[in-house]
Amino acid sequence: MNGFVYDVPTKVYFGKGVVEQLGEELKKYGKKVLLTYGGGSVKNSGLYDKVIGQIKAAGLHCYELSGIAPNPRVESVREGAEMCKKYGIDVILAVGGGSTLDASKYMAAGAKVDFDPWKFLSERAPIAEALPVVTVLTLSATGSEMDGGGVITNLATHEKLGRMEDILRPKASFLDPTLTYSVSPYQTACGAADIMSHIMETYFAPEKDLYMLDATMEGLMRTVVKYAPAALKDPCDYEARANLMWASSWAINGFVTGGKRHAWSVHPMEHELSAFYDITHGLGLAILTPRWMRYCLDDKNVGKYYDFGVNVFGIDPSLSPAEAAERAINALSDFLFVKLGLKDSLSAIGIGAEHFDEMADKAVSHKQINGFKTLTAQDVRKIYEMSL
Ligand code: NZQ
Ligand code: ZN
Repeated sequence: MNGFVYDVPTKVYFGKGVVEQLGEELKKYGKKVLLTYGGGSVKNSGLYDKVIGQIKAAGLHCYELSGIAPNPRVESVREGAEMCKKYGIDVILAVGGGSTLDASKYMAAGAKVDFDPWKFLSERAPIAEALPVVTVLTLSATGSEMDGGGVITNLATHEKLGRMEDILRPKASFLDPTLTYSVSPYQTACGAADIMSHIMETYFAPEKDLYMLDATMEGLMRTVVKYAPAALKDPCDYEARANLMWASSWAINGFVTGGKRHAWSVHPMEHELSAFYDITHGLGLAILTPRWMRYCLDDKNVGKYYDFGVNVFGIDPSLSPAEAAERAINALSDFLFVKLGLKDSLSAIGIGAEHFDEMADKAVSHKQINGFKTLTAQDVRKIYEMSL
């Protein structure tokens, strides 16, 4: 069991109507705001008008950067960083899903340097400073609203690269579950798969950590299993949307990590799918995760699968560990592909084996993933094949 530092400094405003307090919060950081958002959902929902109202009422100057795409492009980051420098921006206000939030974080860092912000990802250039970022979240999925993560896509080089830095954590995040009522069933399902995966990547670990953290993760996963189908049934179910939203933040804000230090496995494999085929992150995770579980299962780690099956999916505790593990994998598949209705294979979304070697090599960073189970490029290739 390793020690750890717990430091999650993002201030969270949670609940119906919290955007009413946005102007007061933004004022703390200066006068000039760069408002960033995606492809138009914020305008359709009326959120844009509310945000602009807050900015104006607080007496702040607003500049805008829109059109941030899912799997956010490095071009948006470059544009935003340049705008920050040109207009002397004091704070970035990111309104949207993980893509808008992630891109805004690297704009915030890019504003402070003279080089291409892609180097933060491609060369891991140091991030010594960043503008403050405030977020209004509209999609429960990535946890970007409370973490220091950000993943950026460079389509020209087929690269989707991310990193985690505490300095990139948002200063404040506004989490109003009603803002997710308009999220489509497909994005709701993908978001749920992403939240599950964030927890599973930590939960399935080669070493033991605090029981309390494992129990917390099981509770978070049960929350997703219970409420994602409810949100699909009734998109305006406040209880469901609220539970998903807060679970999304806590899945990846660092709390459940405790002292675990192993690498994540499914995310690097998925990021190659997104980089080559521009698919939705949560969909790729959903397809890969049950296969990864099956591939990694062995006599030594079967107990973890047993706990997962019994404590998350309510599988009969009197079953043998091997049987419970099998049922746990099936229960997860049923949740993802039947209850959430996500496509269940790579071939079903038009992906073939043509880039598997290159993707596998990149997924292991040309070496191996030291995760729940050590995975070489060959292992990853096999998991891709199982997912076809
Ligand atoms: O662009 P708009 O018009 O806003 O539409 C978006 C987009 O089309 C739409 N949407 C968002 N909120 C909505 C809404 N539609 C209707 N009503 C609303 N309230 O949903 C679509 C997807 O948005 P996006 O931001 O791409 O989704 P998500 O939040 O899932 O973010 C995915 C990105 O985050 C990265 C992923 O790799 C991917 O690039 N991740 C970031 C992480 C982090 N920061 O720690 C960790 C994750 O593992 C993940 O890798
Ligand atoms: Zn994810």
